[in-house]
Amino acid sequence: MAIEERYKTGDTPWDIGKPDFNLVETVAQQPIQSCRVLDIGCGTGDNSIWLARNNFHVVGTDTSDIAIERAKMKASGADVICDFRVVNFLTDEIEDTPFGFIFDRGCFHLIDSIDDRKRFVRNVASHLEGKGLWLTIAGNADEHRMIPGPPQRTAADIVLAVEECFEVLSLTSSRFGSNHPNPPRAWRCLMQRRGSR
Ligand SMILES: C[S@@+](CC[C@H](N)C(=O)[O-])C[C@H]1O[C@@H](n2cnc3c(N)ncnc32)[C@H](O)[C@@H]1O
Repeated sequence: MAIEERYKTGDTPWDIGKPDFNLVETVAQQPIQSCRVLDIGCGTGDNSIWLARNNFHVVGTDTSDIAIERAKMKASGADVICDFRVVNFLTDEIEDTPFGFIFDRGCFHLIDSIDDRKRFVRNVASHLEGKGLWLTIAGNADEHRMIPGPPQRTAADIVLAVEECFEVLSLTSSRFGSNHPNPPRAWRCLMQRRGSR
């Protein structure tokens, strides 16, 4: 089912109503200082809103009109400022780059082909400042499961796609932030853009 349809019907298990702990821990542990941040595939905005509450200047983008509408309503209800936009990250221009930090939870992992993953990665790099950071939270193929869940990627899928443009700072086997007792396994991958500009 297309993602817009899933937002319509409420079939959105990723939409947990709170920031993912993998983001919260990474920002605290690195630490990642307040800067301009891009949340790619931001969904209904819980991670973006948490970042804005913690003094980041947030642009949140998603292809789903419904998700962006909900994100705007949540931000307004929470009294925080986020710049939410309907943008297809693979095809559309994002103005006012660069960003100091890029985050995605469950967007990069949707891409099946290595060529498209590399295209996505180059696009991330081109939106980042010199030594900017990218944190991706992606489904982890080391989990053998019998029930539906998020797309799963191997560590090699991630590293092969990113290494041309990014130095991997950490690649940790984790779980998705969730409201369920046994959440799907995830990769938490923090990367730094290569080179300077
Ligand atoms: C699994 S959901 C995760 C949403 C959100 N990050 C969260 O954690 O709740 C993936 C999101 O990526 C969005 N998406 C998929 N492809 C995209 C693209 N090319 N550009 C921007 N957003 C995209 C989908 O509409 C969806 O909202």
